[in-house]
Amino acid sequence: MTSELCTHVVVPGTFDPVTLGHMDVIHRARKIFPQVTVAVAESRRKHGTGTEFTLEERVDMLRGALQDDGLTEGIEVVPFSGLLVEFCKEHGAGGVVKGLRATTDFEYELQQADLNTYMAPDLESIFVMSNPKYGYVSSSIVREIAAMGGDVDFLVPPNVAKRLRAHYA
Ligand code: COA
Repeated sequence: MTSELCTHVVVPGTFDPVTLGHMDVIHRARKIFPQVTVAVAESRRKHGTGTEFTLEERVDMLRGALQDDGLTEGIEVVPFSGLLVEFCKEHGAGGVVKGLRATTDFEYELQQADLNTYMAPDLESIFVMSNPKYGYVSSSIVREIAAMGGDVDFLVPPNVAKRLRAHYA
């Protein structure tokens, strides 16, 4: 057990693609901690399927969105594969920040946080409550609407909306 001050956190995810909900969590993590690493997972684990966008595209969309928001200081976007706890250790991060949208997120997040604690007892799991505005936003909803030609400007950053239009054109 360490009582070292946590100054560097990781915000992990698949970001397929990044949504305004994710951006809200990243902004808030950066408001609380001086150093934030957004870790983009190579593939998604939750549903065991591949991603719609390549790792490079997902990283690129995130970097573009952060740049457009003027959020570049103390924050970086890094792709990763393998265990999240190992990534945090390699990058010297003391905690993982995730957003909780609805109660449905809770059980899944609790399981991940518990497992991460078993593997890395000193790594903190920190949760921020999602802004109610983005409570029902998810990447799969965004992909579904965009694939059917719907407007997703109210769900994703402008550069991502542009990329989605080109992707599904
Ligand atoms: N706003 C909007 N959407 C959100 C959100 C938020 N604040 N928080 C979660 N979501 C949505 C995503 O859009 C995605 O939606 P979809 O499934 O409808 O497309 C869904 O929640 C899952 O998000 P995802 O980014 O895939 O994250 P995850 O919670 O499944 O975790 C990792 C991804 C990378 C953090 C996790 O798989 C991991 O740690 N992998 C590394 C391997 C490892 O260490 N495994 C052991 C962990 S115990």
